Amino acid sequence: MSTFTAPKGIPEYYPPRSADFLAVRDTLADAARRAGYGYIELPLFEDTGLFARGVGESTDVVSKEMYTFADQGGRSITLRPEGTAGVIRSVIEHGLDRGQLPLKLYYSGAFFRYERPQAGRYRQLQQLGVEAIGVDDPALDAEVIAVADEGYRRLGITGHRIELTSLGDADCRPEYRAKLLEFLRGLPLDEPTRQRAELNPLRVLDDKRPEVREMLADAPLMADHLSAASKEHYERVKTHLSDLGVAFTENPWLVRGLDYYTKTTFEFVHDGLGAQSGIGGGGRYDGLMAELGGAELSGIGFGLGLDRTLLACEAEGVTPAGQSRCEVYCVPLGEAARRHLVRVSGDLRKSGTRVEVAYGGKGLKGAMKSADRSGARFALVVGERDLESGTAQLKDLSSGEQRTVALDGAADEVRAALEASP
Ligand code: HAM
Repeated sequence: MSTFTAPKGIPEYYPPRSADFLAVRDTLADAARRAGYGYIELPLFEDTGLFARGVGESTDVVSKEMYTFADQGGRSITLRPEGTAGVIRSVIEHGLDRGQLPLKLYYSGAFFRYERPQAGRYRQLQQLGVEAIGVDDPALDAEVIAVADEGYRRLGITGHRIELTSLGDADCRPEYRAKLLEFLRGLPLDEPTRQRAELNPLRVLDDKRPEVREMLADAPLMADHLSAASKEHYERVKTHLSDLGVAFTENPWLVRGLDYYTKTTFEFVHDGLGAQSGIGGGGRYDGLMAELGGAELSGIGFGLGLDRTLLACEAEGVTPAGQSRCEVYCVPLGEAARRHLVRVSGDLRKSGTRVEVAYGGKGLKGAMKSADRSGARFALVVGERDLESGTAQLKDLSSGEQRTVALDGAADEVRAALEASP
């Protein structure tokens, strides 16, 4: 008989690792919520045209990596490769920008890119993202970057760095683009790279091949060609970041893989991950909303890769879910004891204690092994003799100390013991 396997290049999270995955997502979401971002839940697929127009036809994401198909009604739909275009579509459709600005939203979930799978690069990837729409203030750029940094710090990650640059605005980018293209046309580039240069010269700056890097050494950089307004904006972002105590490195070679970016752009890089070192990235996209048919409103946001952030935690030996393990493991020996301990476990869970019970008539030895493996601090054991005397044995699993408690008051005893040994 044939068996099924998951589609290629999709990470699945199951216990115990899934607890760390959830903790990564929730910790990053919490950083966003604390800064006033409200949750938005969006469709996993959209009209194909939204991404073609929003993300850019010349990007790898749109030209090579989209999961696009016709639905039963013959519409071309695409599994979302990223979150920003969908957020802006929803904001325009529901008029969310008519309220107080900036409109601050966060989202999380799966995104789909037909990339060549490898460690840290998946076809179904998970992100936690934020978007702040409608206010073009450098302090907001700094806030967005600081929220991500704070989320990573709360997870316990320290090995990440922030790379920052400015990609300019509509006043200076076209002129710079022409200058760069002229420079690239003078280089002995191979045909595909030459074509890429004609389509979007900035993308060539991202070429990782040493022979191309060498040729690019004297390439003009956007950072040296910023308009006065873009330059001032960038300087102020840097000042606010310093005031917030957020360290960053300027990287004028930074090119993001999506076309909508303007002005501030950044990436979070972690060196413990090998080639796929970008654990998150984002930037400003001041023309996107108008491009998608909405008002002339600015925006800035980030997308943090949850899969890669989890890998970064693991590379640093950080376990984000460490604190959410089982606290008490109940071991009933025999049918009558089971009834008592199932009742006690219900009582404890109602008051918020994390409890597990040895089911299936496990013997004492097997059950105590499971108790150790569960990470619980205490085991609560009830045997036949305990039943006769109306007692239970409360065992501290780290010290091995054991004492007899009344079965009636067992739940209270457990709560008190947990409180006494935080
Ligand atoms: P992005 O840089 O394409 O930006 O993706 C953000 C993050 O998602 C990356 O830094 C990476 O951690 C993760 N990621 C991307 N592709 C993969 C993959 N194939 N496998 C695993 N992880 C991956 C965006 O998507 C923008 N929408 C972010 C943004 C929001 N900019 C402004 N607002």
